[in-house]
Amino acid sequence: MKLILLGPPGAGKGTQCKRIIEKYGMIHMSSGDILRAERKANSDLGQKAQSYMDSGALVPDDLIIDMMIKAIKEAPASGYVLDGFPRTVAQGDGLDAALANAGEKIDAIVNLQVPNEAIISRMTGRRCCPVCGAVYHIENLKPKTEGQCDKGCGELVQRPDDTPEVVANRLKIYDEQTAAVVGYYQEKGNVILDIDANQEIDKVTADVFEKLDALKG
Ligand code: AP5
Repeated sequence: MKLILLGPPGAGKGTQCKRIIEKYGMIHMSSGDILRAERKANSDLGQKAQSYMDSGALVPDDLIIDMMIKAIKEAPASGYVLDGFPRTVAQGDGLDAALANAGEKIDAIVNLQVPNEAIISRMTGRRCCPVCGAVYHIENLKPKTEGQCDKGCGELVQRPDDTPEVVANRLKIYDEQTAAVVGYYQEKGNVILDIDANQEIDKVTADVFEKLDALKG
């Protein structure tokens, strides 16, 4: 399967993607994770993306489209889940053009729906492992030992863009530039699987699996 996971910042895209790929054997392609890896490597792209990410703004479309199309071309035949991409209508156009060229298409869009009020506490309480990328929450998904990754990697950290000010800007930008992507795919006739993501993590996963199982038939 080839899926897109849409939803506002903090909707649980990364959390659910990890579970989807475990069950269905695809790979997870997160534009945010790829950008953070580029920053860590201090690459040209990472340097260009830095100021946008730190303020919660979107990295320019041309950089993102090139980066993600390259990753998609290298993906195995088992399929993938795109997380955080496309995030603008221009990115949707770039993705669709590349897929059409390759004779491929997206099977479904999983649309995680959460009100803004629930998102603020999710993001300010998120803790991440800088080594393996595991994501926890200080209340909703606690590590076994406070502040430590369950896989023994060491100390968990807070993402620099998870401060209340930057989160507010990310939500504003989502409403202004990304929310329209759902309508873009609706108009094109793609399958959209709406999920109430304002529920416990395991319940959201169960709902996602139920809809994906029905889709696979
Ligand atoms: P990115 O890393 O993609 O951030 P995001 O979309 O804002 O999403 P997040 O990773 O913050 O949240 P998530 O939905 O994955 O939630 P998670 O599962 O972690 O992008 C970062 C930046 O990179 C952007 O601001 C931009 O600058 C740039 N960028 C990336 N892609 C781009 C693009 N395509 N174009 C331009 N720029 C781009 O969950 C959050 C927390 O909540 C966790 O602690 C989790 O444990 C908890 N949680 C999850 N689900 C639940 C639940 N159901 N109930 C309670 N808690 C929950």
